[in-house]
Amino acid sequence: MSRKVTKAIFPVAGLGTRFLPATKSIPKEIMTLVDRPLIQYAIDEARAAGIEEFIFVTSRGKGALEDYFDHAHELESTLKRGGKTDLLDILRGTNMDSGAIAYVRQHKAMGLGHAVWCARRLVPDNESVAVILTDDVIMGEPPCLQQMIEAHAETGGTMVATMEVPLEKTKSYGVLDVAEDMGAIVKARGLVEKPKENPPSNLAVIGRYILAPTVLQNLNKLREGAGGEIQLTDAIADEITEGREVFGLRFRGQRYDCGSKAGFLQATVAFGLERDELREEFLDYLNEIVSMQRAAE
Ligand code: G1P
Repeated sequence: MSRKVTKAIFPVAGLGTRFLPATKSIPKEIMTLVDRPLIQYAIDEARAAGIEEFIFVTSRGKGALEDYFDHAHELESTLKRGGKTDLLDILRGTNMDSGAIAYVRQHKAMGLGHAVWCARRLVPDNESVAVILTDDVIMGEPPCLQQMIEAHAETGGTMVATMEVPLEKTKSYGVLDVAEDMGAIVKARGLVEKPKENPPSNLAVIGRYILAPTVLQNLNKLREGAGGEIQLTDAIADEITEGREVFGLRFRGQRYDCGSKAGFLQATVAFGLERDELREEFLDYLNEIVSMQRAAE
């Protein structure tokens, strides 16, 4: 049995250039699906999985993200005075305990592995740590990270979330080389970041990780990998080279790539339809617009 995972790293230093001009003045993690910022989905998932300490790896221009987690006292008292308890509950749901959040800066964009490495001093060297990429929004019950924590309690080692993607898309992902397929859990014999050709499988790494403490040590090498960046995938692959175990969990749930415009729009539709108060009206609208598009074709 491995030790409880209570810390999570959120690499949020990226510039979000794919969403310019929106990201000219707001961090992409503050962009909203319906009415919740991407970061809130990530935090809610982490909390559901028992995470108690949240480590943000930020960069210049991410001030709005830090402010987002401050308690909004004035707003809270206005809502309280107005008897708006439902809104008050929503607002309070975003509050974080004092000291539960830590911010470290990544001074230079040197890749995901480097971003995670920036948090190394905040994670004791005998503790596993979770990593959540906010671009990957996953609708699942139980939430993806909780599924992973439960699976990891059995397997130990390092675990990544994984799902099948079309072979031609593997070049956009970390890809697992499978040693043993046990159904929901696969044991890896290797991992390759964004293979240009001959992907070892069609099992892609999705942005949820539980890292053994040694992965952060592997990152000390600061070795350049795919795209000239320091890759988390390579530090995880080193685990296998050094005789430690790495697993992939085929999670149950739907993943949306909110780092792309199409994925973001799909997520907006899916999360909109999940809302009782929106579903009927939104569905009517979608049906209408689809028939209009069809008629125009
Ligand atoms: C990152 C990781 C990659 C992983 C992907 C999942 O890539 O480096 O291994 O498959 O996230 O979304 P990025 O999409 O940031 O280029």
